[in-house]
Amino acid sequence: MAPLLSLAFAACSLLSTAFALPHDNVPVARSKAASSAVGVNVLYSFGNGTWAENLAVRANGQILVSRLDTPEVLQLDPKGIKEPITIASWNSSTYMGCLGISETTSDLFYVVTSGFVDDDFVLTSGVNSIWKIDMSTFSVSEHTGKVVSNATVSKLVDVTTSDFLNGLTTLSDDLILVADAYNGWVYRVNTSTGAYSVAVSEESMKFDSIPNPPTNIGVNGIKLLDGYLYWSNTAVGTLNRIRITAKGAPIGKAEVVTSNVPKADDFIFKSDGVAFIAQNQMDELSVLYPGQSEAAVIAGSNISTILAGVSAGKFGRLADDEHILYLTTSGAEGKPINGTVTVPATLSWIDTSAF
Ligand SMILES: *[C@@H]1O[C@H](CO)[C@@H](O)[C@H](O)[C@H]1NC(C)=O
Ligand SMILES: *[C@@H]1O[C@H](CO)[C@@H](O)[C@H](O)[C@H]1NC(C)=O
Ligand SMILES: *[C@@H]1O[C@H](CO)[C@@H](O)[C@H](O)[C@H]1NC(C)=O
Ligand SMILES: *[C@@H]1O[C@H](CO)[C@@H](O)[C@H](O)[C@H]1NC(C)=O
Ligand SMILES: *[C@@H]1O[C@H](CO)[C@@H](O)[C@H](O)[C@H]1NC(C)=O
Ligand SMILES: *[C@@H]1O[C@H](CO)[C@@H](O)[C@H](O)[C@H]1NC(C)=O
Repeated sequence: MAPLLSLAFAACSLLSTAFALPHDNVPVARSKAASSAVGVNVLYSFGNGTWAENLAVRANGQILVSRLDTPEVLQLDPKGIKEPITIASWNSSTYMGCLGISETTSDLFYVVTSGFVDDDFVLTSGVNSIWKIDMSTFSVSEHTGKVVSNATVSKLVDVTTSDFLNGLTTLSDDLILVADAYNGWVYRVNTSTGAYSVAVSEESMKFDSIPNPPTNIGVNGIKLLDGYLYWSNTAVGTLNRIRITAKGAPIGKAEVVTSNVPKADDFIFKSDGVAFIAQNQMDELSVLYPGQSEAAVIAGSNISTILAGVSAGKFGRLADDEHILYLTTSGAEGKPINGTVTVPATLSWIDTSAF
């Protein structure tokens, strides 16, 4: 068993840092001023050299964060009161790190563990796998904050045909979709059996669908909304969509939703369909309103550490934080700011009431 090495790192930075908690925030007047800047708040800091890659929010409000710098999933408290808890960790000689994470049925999560890729994102050793994390067996003592009973973690499947698995989303109780960012396709995986096959493979999922791509990452974040599969293409800087069936088969032609989101990483829809798009290697977060084709930057910039390497976002699930967008950041480990500057990865948040 791997020791719980990461408990120390965040607790000190967290508890010593004063910050405004989401529930203390005064909501600002709702407006459609897409370009208005929004304040970014740090909830947890993960320490030097870390990379927070993705997140999922439990029904009880606690946030599961996957790390890419080491294969771990942590639980963080949305109020910033409780110390982080390592929920699952894997041998770092076997897996490089964790990526996409999504819930299917209540408190059942699936997460990608990645093999080792080189700077071109070509798999050099190991295999990409999908693991099941059953949080229903997990419990913590309210008094001591100590784990009384662990989550139940088991392997679903090794996706042996994949190169670099990244975004993961839930299609139904027993089907998940997972993006292969290098190959430029999306797998459908049956969570009862682990059986997988390529469900969608569109030209606009490929990194090399443009000449001289700036990175070998194509399809990255994937989400479902109103019968459409949406995806970001990092190299091309687009958000795209195609209609799909309940079983994940594409219908008709893919469309470009917006093409002004350079280096788009993962993204999330608010309940009213407004998209928030993390642009990791631009250190920016953009918003896109339904029916529009121009996204607007609302936080961060490529010369600022405010949202250094923002990688993914998820909304709170409690009555008092459903307007709060929690964001993982990589500390710009993927592309240092101004060529040299990296900072500790974080779980940060913004209040989206104005958008
Ligand atoms: C993290 O990096 C900063 C800047 O390089 C350095 O000052 C600090 O001591 C480092 N902290 C730890 C815990 O290594
Ligand atoms: C991790 O994997 C390596 C290589 O297979 C092995 O030598 C090592 O014992 C493993 N570590 C643990 C803690 O299981
Ligand atoms: C939970 O798992 C960790 C890591 O494997 C282990 O050290 C710990 O003893 C477990 N806790 C309980 C309550 O089983
Ligand atoms: C998943 O596999 C099980 C077992 O073969 C099957 O009963 C079920 O219909 C499959 N689910 C889907 C959505 O294909
Ligand atoms: C990046 O460079 C610009 C221009 O020199 C400077 O204004 C900015 O503060 C730098 N950013 C960081 C994070 O060092
Ligand atoms: C920031 O992005 C702009 C394009 O929006 C680009 O022209 C500029 O070179 C970038 N600066 C840095 C420091 O990456």
